[in-house]
Amino acid sequence: MEVFRLLLLVFSLSSGVYTVQSIPGSHADVHIVYLGHNNGLSPSLTSESHLQLLSRVFTKPDEATEAILYNYSCGFSGFAALLNSTQASTLSETEGVISVFRSRMLELHTTRSWDFMGLNLHTQMEQSSQMHLKFGGDVIVGILDTGVWPESESFRDDPHYGPIPSSWRGTCVKGDSFDPATACNRKLIGARYYLAGIESELGPLNTTGGEEYRSPRDRVGHGTHTASTAVGSVAPNASYFGLGRGAARGGAPRARLAVYKVCWYKDLTGRCSDADILAAFDDALCDGVHVVSASLGSSPPLMPLFATSTEIGAFHAMQRGVVTVFSAGNDGPDASMVQNVSPWGLTVAASTIDRRFPTVITLGNNATVVGESFLANGMMKKQLVESSSVFSDGTCTFDQLINRTAASGKIVLCFGTAGPVSSEGAALAVYAGNGDGVIFADTISRKSSQDNFWPTVHVDLHQGTQILYYIRASRKATVHVSSSKTVVGKTPAPVVAYFSSRGPSSISPHILKPDVTAPGVNILAAWPPKSSPTVLPLDKRSTDWNFDSGTSMSCPHVSGIAALIKSVHPTWSPAAVKSALMTTAYMDDDTSDVMLAGGTLKAADAFDVGAGHVDPLRALDPGLVYDVGARDHVLFLCALGYTAEQIRQLVLPGSSLDTSCPGGGGGAAHAADLNYPAIVLPDLSAPVTVKRTVTNVGPNRGAVYRAAVASPQGARAEVWPRELAFSPYHGDTASYYVSVAPAKPSRGRFDFGEIVWSDGFHRVRTPLVVRVTNLPDDGVRAAAAAAKGDHDSRGATDDLQAAF
Ligand SMILES: *[C@@H]1O[C@H](CO)[C@@H](O)[C@H](O)[C@H]1NC(C)=O
Ligand SMILES: *[C@@H]1O[C@H](CO)[C@@H](O)[C@H](O)[C@H]1NC(C)=O
Ligand SMILES: *[C@@H]1O[C@H](CO)[C@@H](O)[C@H](O)[C@H]1NC(C)=O
Ligand SMILES: *[C@@H]1O[C@H](CO)[C@@H](O)[C@H](O)[C@H]1NC(C)=O
Ligand SMILES: *[C@@H]1O[C@H](CO)[C@@H](O)[C@H](O)[C@H]1NC(C)=O
Ligand SMILES: *[C@@H]1O[C@H](CO)[C@@H](O)[C@H](O)[C@H]1NC(C)=O
Repeated sequence: MEVFRLLLLVFSLSSGVYTVQSIPGSHADVHIVYLGHNNGLSPSLTSESHLQLLSRVFTKPDEATEAILYNYSCGFSGFAALLNSTQASTLSETEGVISVFRSRMLELHTTRSWDFMGLNLHTQMEQSSQMHLKFGGDVIVGILDTGVWPESESFRDDPHYGPIPSSWRGTCVKGDSFDPATACNRKLIGARYYLAGIESELGPLNTTGGEEYRSPRDRVGHGTHTASTAVGSVAPNASYFGLGRGAARGGAPRARLAVYKVCWYKDLTGRCSDADILAAFDDALCDGVHVVSASLGSSPPLMPLFATSTEIGAFHAMQRGVVTVFSAGNDGPDASMVQNVSPWGLTVAASTIDRRFPTVITLGNNATVVGESFLANGMMKKQLVESSSVFSDGTCTFDQLINRTAASGKIVLCFGTAGPVSSEGAALAVYAGNGDGVIFADTISRKSSQDNFWPTVHVDLHQGTQILYYIRASRKATVHVSSSKTVVGKTPAPVVAYFSSRGPSSISPHILKPDVTAPGVNILAAWPPKSSPTVLPLDKRSTDWNFDSGTSMSCPHVSGIAALIKSVHPTWSPAAVKSALMTTAYMDDDTSDVMLAGGTLKAADAFDVGAGHVDPLRALDPGLVYDVGARDHVLFLCALGYTAEQIRQLVLPGSSLDTSCPGGGGGAAHAADLNYPAIVLPDLSAPVTVKRTVTNVGPNRGAVYRAAVASPQGARAEVWPRELAFSPYHGDTASYYVSVAPAKPSRGRFDFGEIVWSDGFHRVRTPLVVRVTNLPDDGVRAAAAAAKGDHDSRGATDDLQAAF
């Protein structure tokens, strides 16, 4: 019966029936009041000012004190409080307040949350192992996630670790099943947890029987997995029940780990509240982390940048020289679903690696089909049936199951194309019908590791159809499934994962997003042995290592590489680190493909992979970087429509920083002018000129770089000067201009080109993305003209800017 209830829960989850509702209005909800930087004031004075501000909307001072959930007073200024709608709107109109917004629930970017995914591996990380092992010991990576399983081999102390960096001001806090004396060491140097936001919204945590821990200890597994992917120590002989055996290690295996638990077990995955996330950022910045890794977010529609906890946190991180790495989201492959799109964050897409797990299926007529699975043990000869003999309408879903024994002793062939059914759902349904396993046929790119609590072999549609014909042609169809094999290096990779969220950004299309791609499919990393690999209650298996997929997994790869870069170049700004990763990323026809439904490939473009696939070794020596200073941020904020007054509150004051907007107001500066390592012109109807400034960070201060330009189709791009000569006398920075003009009439297709600067040794590649829109859509124009009579609108573009 237990299983049945669980199944119902799972099905209501996967069909989206479960939503947490709360009624806006008189009811008090968790709001975040964001006030910008803290003006160099002490945390206690900053908190005091919060209370004063809040007291204006409460009748008694005590009520104001009680309403506060968090004071954000160390890394920046603001607070989270329980407010009704009147209070929230009063505060939002108060001078000095940048934004007031409802705290939302964010999600982890793992495909473990019952989504789809692709398959495979990649060996490039291996090549750089020497460097990985040498550097990083002085760098601290903060992971905002579901906590950590401190006993994992990935986080053990060893004699190679020197003392904890003296700059560290963080701490390990005590809590349920988490004693800092045994949990924390010279590897795991910080651990905190944040509950006030989520408990205010979803009620008290259930800690019965290890259901959750009121401590940094990980219940979900995701945080342990991402932390070990970013900074895990080398753990030889890691495997998932024998599959994928090898040394597991993070991108920066010597870097230190600080864990900030902001996501909590809910609905079989992790949920994270804005209020808690912002508290973690506030602490992490004061604790002294160098890199923040956050594999979480919220699907579009995207909120304005300064009404989003992750973007506010990353903005202040950037100003303090801290790199923030985000996952792009798992809402692919449709366009414009990318999340975490601010120019100050680094946004990572997910690609495959060249590892697969072929699994041989032998039919009763001796025909064989090679599918894909994670079967540690094969299955001897079993009866094979098609889904219609077990499920009344032939779709492998729980509610179509004929009876509890309909699949008894059988392997069932299910088609993902037969209805709204995932392989996880099919595996659960066959399990519920007492079946022995599933052969799941679907478009190849949607293979999942999340279904392997019950034997499930994936085949493509062609193979599935062959198996179906065999079943129909034989009186008693049988099948034999061999155990899966691990095969490395025989598969084209990297291929962008089907699920990886694509650009362009839905709020700022002129900032290229995602920025880069990295491995994110079937990544083997540490796992809490007390949580089953699928986190399903019916799954009784235990493992120290687990496969997981998602941009959640690619994000910490890049966090690890960012830590290496910070270790080798401690003074580089976050913009310089990002630039190094982007301009050295590789993007070529053979390796940067996109997997489409049906298993066919197409060449990836910049909205799939950003600048390309990260290349850790080259990123350490990029030659040139696009740096961004405080004044650049002022201009960008001007372009977003912020006033000089607000900008002074956002941008940390510098001695000679000019915080005025050109032309005195917003909109004059163009967001495409931000010194970003990519140029996107999403609406080119007339020639434009864009300026970029590069800084020579190569060993040769007298380097001479020459430009090569590949114009996007339909546009003509020219770079001048064509040569940049650096010298110790003329300085390490130089500017160049790119003129882009429409070359033929177009109604608005995105085309992709590049600018490559080279000194013969370094190759500095900058994507150039253009959408020529010089041929108006007459239908839209006619409608707009008709509407103009109705009201004098400012036009869609202006409205969008205001909202952004
Ligand atoms: C919100 O709370 C304030 C202070 O308690 C109260 O005066 C006001 O009436 C409330 N507004 C609503 C809509 O309930
Ligand atoms: C926030 O700061 C105010 C003023 O110091 C204090 O009264 C309040 O208790 C603090 N709240 C929290 C949750 O830290
Ligand atoms: C809390 O978790 C335990 C263990 O899984 C479960 O038995 C119990 O029903 C849960 N309680 C609530 C209130 O959900
Ligand atoms: C690796 O681990 C397996 C168990 O997973 C064990 O049987 C084997 O002996 C180990 N090999 C080495 C070299 O430690
Ligand atoms: C399949 O192969 C086995 C072993 O090679 C053989 O004994 C059997 O007769 C074959 N069956 C068919 C249907 O060909
Ligand atoms: C369940 O369904 C199977 C297949 O249709 C049938 O053979 C069996 O008799 C059914 N059992 C019950 C208890 O109805």
